[in-house]
Amino acid sequence: MQIEEAGALVTGGASGLGEATVRRLTARGAVVTIVDRDAEKGEALAKEIGQGTQFATADVTDEDQVRAAVDHAASAAPLRIVVNCAGLGWAGRVINRDGSPHDLGPFQFVINVNLIGTFNGMRLGASAISKTDPINDDGGRGVIINTASVAAFDGQIGQIAYSASKGGIVGMTLPAARDLAPVGIRVLTIAPGTMDTPLLGLLPEEGRQALAANIPFPKRLGRPEDFASLVEGMVENDYLNGETVRLDGALRMPPK
Ligand SMILES: NC(=O)c1ccc[n+]([C@@H]2O[C@H](COP(=O)([O-])OP(=O)(O)OC[C@H]3O[C@@H](n4cnc5c(N)ncnc54)[C@H](O)[C@@H]3O)[C@@H](O)[C@H]2O)c1
Repeated sequence: MQIEEAGALVTGGASGLGEATVRRLTARGAVVTIVDRDAEKGEALAKEIGQGTQFATADVTDEDQVRAAVDHAASAAPLRIVVNCAGLGWAGRVINRDGSPHDLGPFQFVINVNLIGTFNGMRLGASAISKTDPINDDGGRGVIINTASVAAFDGQIGQIAYSASKGGIVGMTLPAARDLAPVGIRVLTIAPGTMDTPLLGLLPEEGRQALAANIPFPKRLGRPEDFASLVEGMVENDYLNGETVRLDGALRMPPK
């Protein structure tokens, strides 16, 4: 699928992997709408990039806000590309050291933002894409790319809520691709390893180096641009569908 002149929407687009994706898609000629709950960062980024880049404030868990953001994106250019990056982490074990159980509240919160928020972006984005005209010989209309994590497969101690939320995103990939096949929308998932975003930037340099030392090759943290490159390739490769791709330098996370 051609990126040039395609309408694109990136949730969590104000920071990290989403921001790199916004920059890459814009550089390739897409008309991008950044969707994020951080209005200050999102607006500043849209202004800095220019080239028709728009910003829409939305919490991905909110139906009305995401619907309005999708409408806003579709009004600028026919929507073809939806990249769901909004997400967050949470640390907590099934039971705490004193034997008390994990609180349900934070577990539900992480599932709500990471899994249900991704589904919200996917369903509303897919509905908008389905209303556009097909743009290639296959009858393709667009592509949805969701962001899981290697924690979907090798969740570490203390990652029960996060792993459950990301495992859900992996689990949605094939059924969503099958659901959306009749309207020519592909669905893909990226499962990043340890990526050097503002999230990891909070760690001291030693901690970041220790993380990088466990990565077989390349022996470094992933760059947001590595993620953006994969998004670009996924959009352009029309035969890639219903699959989750690990982006991790062959890293397999140990228990802790
Ligand atoms: N950085 C990593 O090492 C790594 C590894 C695996 C997976 N991931 C996943 O990649 C995605 C992006 O992570 P990142 O490292 O770029 O983080 P980040 O914190 O730099 O960016 C996340 C963005 O999502 C936004 N966001 C969070 N909750 C939101 C909500 N409810 N509604 C709207 N926007 C919301 C934040 O405001 C922020 O701009 C996340 O889903 C994360 O779980 C990151």
